[in-house]
Amino acid sequence: MQSNRARREMKMKGLILSGGKGTRMRPLTHTSAKQLIPVANKPVLVYGIEAIVAAGIEDIAIIVSPETGGEIRQAIGDGSRYGASVTYVPQDEPRGLAHAVLTAEPFIGDSPFVMYLGDNLLQHGITPLVDEYRSTDCNSEILLTRVANPSQFGVAELAEDGTVVRLTEKPAEPKSDLALVGVYMFDRNIFDAARAIQPSKRNELEITDAIQWLVDHGFKVHPHIVKGWWKDTGKIEDMLEANRTVLDTFEREVRGTTDDASRIEGKVVIEEGAEITDSVVRGPAIIGCNARITHAYVGPYTSIGNRCVVEHCEIENSIVLENSTIAHVQGRIEASLIGKNVKIARTHRKPAAYRFILGDNSEVGIT
Ligand code: TTP
Repeated sequence: MQSNRARREMKMKGLILSGGKGTRMRPLTHTSAKQLIPVANKPVLVYGIEAIVAAGIEDIAIIVSPETGGEIRQAIGDGSRYGASVTYVPQDEPRGLAHAVLTAEPFIGDSPFVMYLGDNLLQHGITPLVDEYRSTDCNSEILLTRVANPSQFGVAELAEDGTVVRLTEKPAEPKSDLALVGVYMFDRNIFDAARAIQPSKRNELEITDAIQWLVDHGFKVHPHIVKGWWKDTGKIEDMLEANRTVLDTFEREVRGTTDDASRIEGKVVIEEGAEITDSVVRGPAIIGCNARITHAYVGPYTSIGNRCVVEHCEIENSIVLENSTIAHVQGRIEASLIGKNVKIARTHRKPAAYRFILGDNSEVGIT
């Protein structure tokens, strides 16, 4: 068995899980990877890559699914622009987080590694946690945070001395309010654990079961309770919340152009080439490159993607992906997540009627 000391001296690798089905993010995930949906105009996945690189880890593998692998490769490339060297590891089917770990075994080899769920965001990054893992003799470090609704998460039960006793995936009757955050540190014993466990009721190899195996077989699993916010962007409401939280951290920066009739209020980022005409943009908000905001109101907590057009309408607390047009909509658009290349516009055709061309699982709310 590899000694803990030897393990500490090895270079760590990074593993980002970016496969999965993304059923809770439909319809956007019918055509795109959920990890590429932008929060404050930056794909969620990029926050993960940057956090791993900031912790001093450059050698990163990204687990991808057959459906979204191409798109993720195209977006991230070889990782050099983030200071990383990225390898793509296809997972044939989303058979659970522990299955994804096993799929990456040839890439990881004997190295200790940090595993990061590609749809997670952590306020303070992971540098202190990786440093802590490197400096202790534990086999694994797990991150926990207190939540109001533990039955929706993997939940950890700790003993009085703070050691991990039990991990349960989405328990009906949770024994604690400590949820597992989607960042874990492991040494190679996790591969034996993942091989030893059986698929769960939902037919997945659960990472909670693999970590439980480590605990039961005498390996040291160190729990770390995270301070600061952690967001799992698995659902649309979570995405909007993450967007609000990240926009709140922004400083005002205007690189695009605004005319005299417009008001830019508070923490607003206006990217290069964006044009604001006769409009109010009230921060926190971001307007992407070459977007056009004309006779419009963009309210707090809104991210407008690159090359979008927003004309004669009002929008707030929303995310609009690149190349979309919203024009002449009466009434304010709110709490919305609008995909790429979408057109929402008033028409003057008769009979005056709504006309919808919506993908499967789309949602439209009309008042
Ligand atoms: P989840 O959000 O738990 O699963 P999912 O992406 O399939 O979403 P849903 O439940 O809405 O269908 O996955 C967490 C992260 O791990 C996410 O980035 C996808 C990734 N993942 C894999 O890479 N392989 C897998 O087998 C699974 C289950 C998830």
